[in-house]
This record gives sequence, C-alpha cells and structure tokens, in this order.
Amino acid sequence: MSDTKSADRGGTRAGPLREIDHVGVAVRDLDAAIAMYTQTYGLDLLHVEDNPDQGVREAMLGRGDLGGAAVQLVSPLGDDSSVARFLDERKPGLHHLAFEVEDIEDAATQLRDSGVEVLYDEKGRPGTGNSRVNFVHPRQAGGVLLELVEHRAHATHAKPAPTELGARNDSSI
Ligand code: CO
Repeated sequence: MSDTKSADRGGTRAGPLREIDHVGVAVRDLDAAIAMYTQTYGLDLLHVEDNPDQGVREAMLGRGDLGGAAVQLVSPLGDDSSVARFLDERKPGLHHLAFEVEDIEDAATQLRDSGVEVLYDEKGRPGTGNSRVNFVHPRQAGGVLLELVEHRAHATHAKPAPTELGARNDSSI
C-alpha cells in the first residue's frame, strides 16, 4: 500500500538503525587500497587507526565536503584476526555494513528483544574515533555482517588534524 511506503521513507518505523555510517571493505594491503581510493576515486583519507581489540588496522575515507557514508578499509593486524580469516575464506571485498545508532546499549537491547543476537554485551566495544560498536551476525542480516555504531565524538567524519593522519591510536575499529 502506498501509505506503508511513504511511512517507510519518512523514517517513522520503530527500530534502532539510523543512517548508513560506513561500508567496510576487507583488504590485504591497506596502503595500496588507500592509494587507490584517494588517487583514483578522489576520496579523502579521514582517519587511520589500529584497533587491536578487533585485530585490524583500518582507514576511513569519504568526502568530508559532501557528507554521506564513508568507506572503511580494514586489514588484519595478525593471522588470528577475524578479517584475516575472512580474507582467506572469501578474498578481499565487502566485509560489513555499519549503521549509526543513537545509543549502543538501547540498540542492543531493542534488537535482543526482537530476537536478534548481538555479538557483544550491551555496552559494545571500542570503535573508531571514540565510538562504541556492536555487531549482528550475517545469518540474521541477509548475509552481511551488520555493525552498529554510536558516535561519542564525531572524529570519524571530521576533517582530521594533520597529526591525526599519521597517528596510530592503539586504544580503539
Ligand atoms: Co566498521
């Protein structure tokens, strides 16, 4: 019915997901992938960070002047990383889809109440740029790993200070 469709577009449905925050792409060679996305496709490198908790080094790219969702390149920090296993099993490619949520704990609770398993406990885990993240297994999301992101500081999409680009922040995907 047309009523249902317009309600969908208007965002009136209940549920914790807001806009798409970023799309995660698993790569083996992070520097080569950064060079391709910046030089060939003209994206800006917004942020590079090691996240030992997730076993990845990741780079966030986007168009800070245009806004919109970012591309997050993720590469394994070691052979025991889940991204290393992903690359071995499936080759480089689409790894996850991340939606912003207003509150990571509320989102986890709402999803659990709907029968969806989230990977971590309600508090989630440290994410990129002072965010908190949680994940939903692909089996409950049409075959794609879903990431939930609560931004506690908007470092991810902000234009980085020059010092940030070279920094390797071990505290926190
Ligand atoms: Co991500």
